[in-house]
Amino acid sequence: MIQIDNVTKRFPGGQEALSGLSLSIETGEMVFITGHSGAGKSTLLRLIALIDRPTSGSVVVDGQNTSRVSRRRIPAYRRQIGMVFQDHKLLYDRPVFDNVALPLIIAGVSHRDAARKVRAALDQVDLLNKEKQSPETLSTGEQQRVGIARAIVTRPKLLIADEPTGNLDPDLSLEVMRIFRRFNEVGVTLLIASHDIALIDQLGCRRIPLSNGRIEIEEEEDIVTEYSERLLEEQGDLWQ
Ligand SMILES: Nc1ncnc2c1ncn2[C@@H]1O[C@H](COP(=O)(O)OP(=O)(O)OP(=O)(O)O)[C@@H](O)[C@H]1O
Ligand SMILES: [Mg+2]
Repeated sequence: MIQIDNVTKRFPGGQEALSGLSLSIETGEMVFITGHSGAGKSTLLRLIALIDRPTSGSVVVDGQNTSRVSRRRIPAYRRQIGMVFQDHKLLYDRPVFDNVALPLIIAGVSHRDAARKVRAALDQVDLLNKEKQSPETLSTGEQQRVGIARAIVTRPKLLIADEPTGNLDPDLSLEVMRIFRRFNEVGVTLLIASHDIALIDQLGCRRIPLSNGRIEIEEEEDIVTEYSERLLEEQGDLWQ
């Protein structure tokens, strides 16, 4: 579903957010990107969503090389991807229903079809009874679920989420992850940036650890430890 090949993203001023990054995510996977603040997680998601473009290297999403998607085609490209953010980015002067309907209205879906799809999406995040309320009157967790309903209302094959549980307590975080898991079970590919390693371990999903724009090789420490232990053993033998 996603192939990142030797991608570098350099910002004006010389800051390299991603450095020769390569990775691949299969259709149907649920994968987490972790890493310290500034590791490049959001940058990677922004390249996939075509909010930004790489300095070099290629980003291929569902068979489409993003470098070949013209500016004019970006809205259509983005419609195939559901996006969830930490700060839900909801419209507070509109009811929940309108917030979730927004991507459908933009896509020109008829009002009747939109209503059916919005209710299906709200049902999936257990918020059917809140459609008339203003997001302001909802709890943080409920607001985040409205954001998720809006992201999946167009039934995207790929859902990307940037720190979706960043503002939530552990119980609510788990609830959001369970919702994601349910989408994954019906075939949606998910790529989620998160700091919450304990939660990810609990879910047992693949984790891609980023550090300074590269994939961190976690085993390295183990290999070094093993090597030095063996060396010590051998030296111990010599000294006996
Ligand atoms: N528009 C920009 N201009 C200049 N530098 C940027 C820009 N966006 C990101 N960066 C830099 O790129 C690096 C990666 O940033 P990014 O936002 O991808 O990190 P992150 O892993 O998402 O961090 P966090 O966990 O804090 O959200 C950082 O050093 C950041 O300062
Ligand atoms: Mg970020």
